[in-house]
Amino acid sequence: MTLTLATAGAPALWYLSRGSGAVSLILLSTAVVLGIVDERHWRSARWPRFTLHGLHRWVSLFAVSFLSVHILSAVLDSFAPIRLLDAVIPFAGKYRPLWLGFGALAFDTLLAVTITSLLKKRIGQRNWRAVHWLSYAAWPVAVVHGLGTGSDVRAGWLLAITAACVAAVWLAVFVRIWDAAPGPRFASLGALAAVPIAAVIWLPQGPLAKGWAQRAGTPARLLPVSDVTPAAGTQRDLFSPPFSAYLGGSETGSSDDFGDERVDIALRITGGAQGAADIVLQGQPLAGGGVSVQRSEVTLGPASDPNRYQGRVVSLENTDVVAEVTDLAGNSLRADFRLALEGRRVEGTVSVVPD
Ligand code: HEM
Repeated sequence: MTLTLATAGAPALWYLSRGSGAVSLILLSTAVVLGIVDERHWRSARWPRFTLHGLHRWVSLFAVSFLSVHILSAVLDSFAPIRLLDAVIPFAGKYRPLWLGFGALAFDTLLAVTITSLLKKRIGQRNWRAVHWLSYAAWPVAVVHGLGTGSDVRAGWLLAITAACVAAVWLAVFVRIWDAAPGPRFASLGALAAVPIAAVIWLPQGPLAKGWAQRAGTPARLLPVSDVTPAAGTQRDLFSPPFSAYLGGSETGSSDDFGDERVDIALRITGGAQGAADIVLQGQPLAGGGVSVQRSEVTLGPASDPNRYQGRVVSLENTDVVAEVTDLAGNSLRADFRLALEGRRVEGTVSVVPD
């Protein structure tokens, strides 16, 4: 039996989606700042108005291009269930629907802004301007999407990038409304002051808090084990099939003298049961980074006896692994592992039923 384990393709697309998301946000923020500068008629001999105009246009087009990469890679990646429709119809998806929905809303708005800009001559200045104002609304919606959806928010770099983007746009908007009449000026400045206050209140109990992935609407099978809060009474010390449980562990790869690749996935089982599992896959390395599997060994059992059940993989599709294992008394189990590989870290779920 030759099976194929796809270890490289999926994470590469997931990384591309995250990286291009961050770049899109930087470009979008730059476009908003340049738009405000252009609107204010700030210029100098070094930066004549048409240069600013062109820069704003090019950065905006770049932002939309990077967004296409961001969206396509998120859709093509098999890690999360995201359809192309979820990118244009807000709040309808299965993966973090509210927060992904904000992304779709921002994307729809930017699409409208881009299309009307390209058709400016046909639709007239007044209509174009009305739609163009929406880009001011799209930007904060996109920021909230990045913070609510991004896996990298708790890793400081994305938070730092987002904070820098917010600071730049905040400053540009502040200067823009400073010249307004006193009434609108004070109302707008009040709203502007509320932004950092809202961020300081929301972030620590939202995206920066433990358990956010679960609260944000990540499907259970993709939840990192560290983010799962078991419901009261579901924690069992026993290892008594049938059960469904969470997995967390690591993958190590090595190759032998004959050029065969060996992938060892060591997992801890928590939640619906307490135990351990080990999946070893051996075979020829594939050009794309996976392994064409020819031999396998699987062990499964309670933490006190992790090798109680032994067997092999009977089906493997990308990172969904089905194994059949038997104990010394001849009792057989079927274990359905749904794995998510991220670098060397492995997370996911397992459901175990008597065979
Ligand atoms: C103006 C529009 C958008 C901007 C500026 C934007 C930006 C971002 C940013 C900055 C992140 C965080 C990346 C990270 O964690 O490193 C992110 C995450 C994400 N975005 Fe968007 N996005 C937009 C629209 C969309 C749309 C329409 C989709 C629909 C497919 C989408 C799908 C995702 C997904 C799935 C993630 C999570 C990736 C992860 O786990 O980190 N985004 N986005």
